[in-house]
Amino acid sequence: MSMNFEEIKASISTEAAQVSDAQQLEAFRIKYLGKKGVIQDIYASLAQAPNEEKRTIGKAANEIKQLATRVMEELKTRVGSAGGGKARRSIDPTIPGVAPRVGYKHLLTQTIEEISDIFEKLGFVIEDGPEVETEFNNFTALNIPENHPSRDGFDTFYTTARNPEDQSSHLLLRSHTSPGQIRIMQNNKPPLAVIIPGRVYRPDAVDASHSFMFHQIEGLLVDKDVKFSDLKGLLNAFCKRLFGNDIQMRFRPHYFPFTEPSAEVDISWRGGKRDWLEIMGCGMVHPKVFEYAGYPKGKYTGLAFGLGVERMTMLKYGIKDIRLFYENDQRFLEQF
Ligand code: PHE
Repeated sequence: MSMNFEEIKASISTEAAQVSDAQQLEAFRIKYLGKKGVIQDIYASLAQAPNEEKRTIGKAANEIKQLATRVMEELKTRVGSAGGGKARRSIDPTIPGVAPRVGYKHLLTQTIEEISDIFEKLGFVIEDGPEVETEFNNFTALNIPENHPSRDGFDTFYTTARNPEDQSSHLLLRSHTSPGQIRIMQNNKPPLAVIIPGRVYRPDAVDASHSFMFHQIEGLLVDKDVKFSDLKGLLNAFCKRLFGNDIQMRFRPHYFPFTEPSAEVDISWRGGKRDWLEIMGCGMVHPKVFEYAGYPKGKYTGLAFGLGVERMTMLKYGIKDIRLFYENDQRFLEQF
């Protein structure tokens, strides 16, 4: 056994004194403490050593290992731990900071708030209604006949739960926000002016312009002597505020069971393509609806409208696919 333990200890000390960066530190570690390092060699030599020397060699090896480990620790605090040759970790004030990600409102929420804001300034109050509704509120009270196709399971999501107040009918996911009209009238006396934003559900196959869930904003104004011209004036003012004064609009006769007369509203941009785009349904509240809501006959008149939030948002921002609203892809949502 030709190893001189004292020499090894001495070289550990002298070589340690020369270590000045992480690379040299790593070389030092490999030389002494590495898997094929000096200390491992000493342990390996134990097997061949004569029995009477084993003790001395073992003891010396332990001492050297302790020394090397201690020196390593000291060096680490002096030059920093090994890491790609970089010197001690320190703060570099020239590196650009990481901007914290700040939350923001979903584009649909922004549109709902923008529309709500316009109606609030026109004197409307924002109300809320449940997404799980009764057949009565979603259909019957809105004068939608018993055999109307929209009551069909293909057009409405029915739940398996029965209406606790009418065991013969099932609860459903509202297919429009109009049942909100009934709830408002059952609990409030005219004059009233409310808008009811919320989610609605229809079992449509999903494609670029259809989704089984989307948002509507319902509007209802009831008072004495409300006229169709009030409806026109109101919606005209609203559209100009939302889309700008350049907008043109027209009322096209239509049919809804809960309004009479009924219309659909189309808009078009002057100067652009002369396409008319349908943006909402509206009309004068049907006397039957007042009756179902429990209002005295002939005392009040009212106007109602319902607009699709996704549709409006797509028109306003030129978005071509409704699915973008629900996929939560930050690259899309962050733009607004
Ligand atoms: N509820 C109708 C729909 O979903 C819209 C509407 C609301 C029409 C109020 C007239 C009055 O298509």
